[in-house]
Amino acid sequence: MTPTDVVSVPSNSTGESVHEGAISGAQAHAAKQKSSSPRSSRMTGFAKMNAGERLDALVEREFLSEEMAAVLAGPAQLPIGMADSFIENCVGHFSLPLGIATNFLIDGREMVIPMAVEESSVVAAASHGAKLARTRGGFFTTPTKTIATSQIQFTVDAQNAGHIPVWFERVRAEIIARANACHPRLVSRGGGATGVELRVLPRAGMFVIHVHVDTREAMGANIVNTIAEDIGRWLSDSLPCSVGLKILTNLTVHRLTRVRCEVDRKALEISGFSGEEAVRRITAAWEFADLDPYRAATHNKGIMNGIDPVVIATGNDWRAVEAGAHAFAAVTGQYKPLTRWFETDDGHLGGEITVPVAVGTVGGVTRLHPAVQSSLALLGHPSSDVLSGYIASVGLAQNLSALRALACEGIQRGHMALHEKNIEMMRRYDHIPALTAVTRGNGASKVE
Ligand code: MEV
Repeated sequence: MTPTDVVSVPSNSTGESVHEGAISGAQAHAAKQKSSSPRSSRMTGFAKMNAGERLDALVEREFLSEEMAAVLAGPAQLPIGMADSFIENCVGHFSLPLGIATNFLIDGREMVIPMAVEESSVVAAASHGAKLARTRGGFFTTPTKTIATSQIQFTVDAQNAGHIPVWFERVRAEIIARANACHPRLVSRGGGATGVELRVLPRAGMFVIHVHVDTREAMGANIVNTIAEDIGRWLSDSLPCSVGLKILTNLTVHRLTRVRCEVDRKALEISGFSGEEAVRRITAAWEFADLDPYRAATHNKGIMNGIDPVVIATGNDWRAVEAGAHAFAAVTGQYKPLTRWFETDDGHLGGEITVPVAVGTVGGVTRLHPAVQSSLALLGHPSSDVLSGYIASVGLAQNLSALRALACEGIQRGHMALHEKNIEMMRRYDHIPALTAVTRGNGASKVE
């Protein structure tokens, strides 16, 4: 059993999963777009360029405006005054490299993906996984509902516990009305409370109320925490009980993102392995993770190698996404892989990921941080539900690349080559390098 089996996946109003079986037709056609298209994310030679040339290429292909490219090329993307207003006791910046994963085709859209990460191989592996998935039309997402959930914990005397479910049915509508009164502007934007739920904990008299809220473009932590505290105050006035914690849950099972892809078996051929053999070995590698939580932990770490860098680049709370992903992986009671790989009816490789990706495109630092604005521009300023789909696609691509390498040739050859590059860098920079800008334009670009 996988986490997906115990929690229903968001669907459209007819109850069908959107994009199910849609790897054909127009999207397959989009997959065949030539690299000559200005918006193609198949960027031949990108890896061999220097940083300035890559920015030029992104501008040329209309993935980025000159203005946004200039932000990324600048020596410090976050003014210190702004940094000081984000956190307490700020003394400076802590920088991470920002890389661009290429080759992504998501729901027929050509995408380049900004990834903020320190680990070598991650950006290359994401690009490689995306290239494999292009062979059968890229990635196909199921729309994500932007639901966040607040928890209000309370305890009653054990002898009164039996009355609580009846009481809860009477006050359901009142709780929803109170929640919506906390955020009238959210309601006017089409968001607000979508449901309430009473959960009975395995301790006599202890309950939790869940309030589910459509938070639209926001990740929603502040929205649902305000609601939780308001309902908590109301609860202590309405019921003889002791109110406990009032806070969101990061296990956002009503905010699951689901993405599917397929890979043509011919594209999986690798020295010594036929495509058929590679499909068999990759599905067997997935089965190992499905059976063994020790392997599932590493399998999922590889998925988060893809997810976290995009969450960070878009200014979102990666600790929340990490917590949600791992809690969801364990939701059946056994820690499980977040992806599934299988052989399709026609003998190719099929894959899917189901993962909560609670991110926003407003709130927090998203509208303030200049580099975050550049990342969102690279992604075409998506809405938060669409962004979740992009992020989960990168997780799936990353996992595909890792499993293909692990199941066929091992990862150390590629890893060690990059590691040696890092060691060489350490030799070169035995002092802290001065922070200077990326030079762009006229083919004279270089990182100084
Ligand atoms: C390394 O950062 C990630 C991998 O270990 C993931 C995996 O084993 O699937 C390669």
